[in-house]
Amino acid sequence: MLSPESVPVADVEMPASAIARGSWRLSRDDLVAFGERMGRALAPPHVVALSGDLGSGKTTLAQAICRGYGVKENVTSPTFALVHAYEGKHSTVYHCDLYRLRDESELTNIGWDDLLNERALVLIEWPERAGSRLPEEVTHLHLDHVGDQTDVRVLTVGLE
Ligand SMILES: Nc1ncnc2c1ncn2[C@@H]1O[C@H](COP(=O)(O)OP(=O)(O)O)[C@@H](O)[C@H]1O
Ligand SMILES: [Mg+2]
Repeated sequence: MLSPESVPVADVEMPASAIARGSWRLSRDDLVAFGERMGRALAPPHVVALSGDLGSGKTTLAQAICRGYGVKENVTSPTFALVHAYEGKHSTVYHCDLYRLRDESELTNIGWDDLLNERALVLIEWPERAGSRLPEEVTHLHLDHVGDQTDVRVLTVGLE
């Protein structure tokens, strides 16, 4: 089981079901370490939904997952383009940020259905904005602030 507290594992591909469900209180370094380990373990096709308030760490986690997945390029927030594509070790990575999505029909313009049908890794910030067009098989990663502490977050991992 891959969890934030598990010892680093070898670079083996693991199914989504091997990612432990639960909640962990994490520093930025811990969150990044978990994201990199998860990226190393993921095999395409795989969709990851990253939810949580502004500044909760979704992009930070997406960047770590990309790094673990072998993306060499600098991963930047796709807030205005809605989606950025990168080449990872095993497939293309699509990093989506739906914060500025006006309605679900706009998803068609960014090639939503096509990228979800590809053998790719798809990371989605603000997944709730996709409404009914979010696929069913998704690994959910949710981040919460902890009171007024600026340096810790609670990561909740769930499969739905
Ligand atoms: N434990 C933590 N986990 C994630 N980010 C943290 C943590 N502590 C502090 N931060 C900071 O919070 C900010 C999160 O920003 P970002 O990843 O862009 O959030 P989002 O994409 O959710 O809006 C970054 O500046 C990051 O360094
Ligand atoms: Mg973001």
